[in-house]
Amino acid sequence: MSTPTMSRPTVTLIEGDGIGPEITAATVRALEAAGASLVWERQDAGAGAVAKHGDPLPAATLESIKRTQLVLKAPLATPSGGGYRSVNVTLRQHFDLYANVRPVKTIPGVPSRYDNVDLVIVRENTEDLYAGIEHYIDARRSAAESIGIITRFGSERIIRYAFEYARTYGRKKVTLVHKANILKMTNGLFLDCGKAIAPEYPDIAFDDMIVDATAMKLVLAPERFDVIVTMNLFGDILSDLTAGLIGGLGVAPAANIGAQGEGSAPCAMFEAVHGTAPDIAGKGIANPTGLMLSAAMLLDHVDQRAAAARLRRGIFASLAQAATRTGDLGGKANTATYTDAVIAAMGD
Ligand SMILES: NC(=O)c1ccc[n+]([C@@H]2O[C@H](COP(=O)([O-])OP(=O)(O)OC[C@H]3O[C@@H](n4cnc5c(N)ncnc54)[C@H](O)[C@@H]3O)[C@@H](O)[C@H]2O)c1
Repeated sequence: MSTPTMSRPTVTLIEGDGIGPEITAATVRALEAAGASLVWERQDAGAGAVAKHGDPLPAATLESIKRTQLVLKAPLATPSGGGYRSVNVTLRQHFDLYANVRPVKTIPGVPSRYDNVDLVIVRENTEDLYAGIEHYIDARRSAAESIGIITRFGSERIIRYAFEYARTYGRKKVTLVHKANILKMTNGLFLDCGKAIAPEYPDIAFDDMIVDATAMKLVLAPERFDVIVTMNLFGDILSDLTAGLIGGLGVAPAANIGAQGEGSAPCAMFEAVHGTAPDIAGKGIANPTGLMLSAAMLLDHVDQRAAAARLRRGIFASLAQAATRTGDLGGKANTATYTDAVIAAMGD
């Protein structure tokens, strides 16, 4: 009888700028200890790539992602008000990473206002007001306008993604968030798509909610929510709001999932949602939790669920104690000692 062997996916690893290299090294160490079976293809992007190759997104990095269809990415510096275009946005567009997935779960020991949050935001990542169609109406800049595009194609695929995600991860309900009472056509189309698709998933409950009411209810009773699916702008705002419910961006993971290619797996990019933290770069005190939890999502994605569970066990056990939490969460550990604690607490 042949013994099944675990496949060993190749992952494009982008260690990023600022604290990126420190949290990447910690995450790779924790992944190896958790028993993840991955092959790394290290590539450059961001300010580091500009210094090294004169290009924030070198062709070799794009080719690597095209090949691997899997990315673990630390934060990249984006110059404000000039310089080069955001590499994050370029990657999302280039690989059509239409689904931004942010799980938000209370972490015992991490200071926050609630102890019972467990929800997931599924945000459409390519359309809406972020399509980038805007202009001033005249040379004096007396007004500016921006066009939000919502397509049936884009709406249907993100809503289906949310239902499929709910099924795969044992979630019970999808709530579609919109403003269709005012934006009757764009948001009305999104809502209509949700109502048409929901009956295809009789095992998952479905409701819809106006975005302003959602913002209030998320603050009053976050335990009411399970999977939220919404458009780009609302998703951007609500996903930071929900990160705030569990202690902030430092512990929040994210996945950007692309469309299924012909005969190929969808491209998927996993990243922490915080930035490069230039104020603490090189000091060895950065908190690698966001990237580690993103790496756990990557392990789920490639069906290495046991390694993902070991990694999460180590992370949650270490965050529960002040002695092993990092300084940004009121703890006494630095990046290296926190990572040691994560590895020690993984269990078998
Ligand atoms: N996904 C990305 O690549 C991404 C996301 C956001 C910002 N950025 C970039 O990051 C740079 C800095 O942005 P910013 O200062 O607005 O936000 P930031 O998230 O880098 O920092 C905000 C504050 O949070 C702290 N912080 C952030 N992550 C931390 C961690 N892991 N451990 C401990 N403390 C942490 C920082 O020290 C700082 O005080 C900019 O160039 C921005 O464009 C990149």
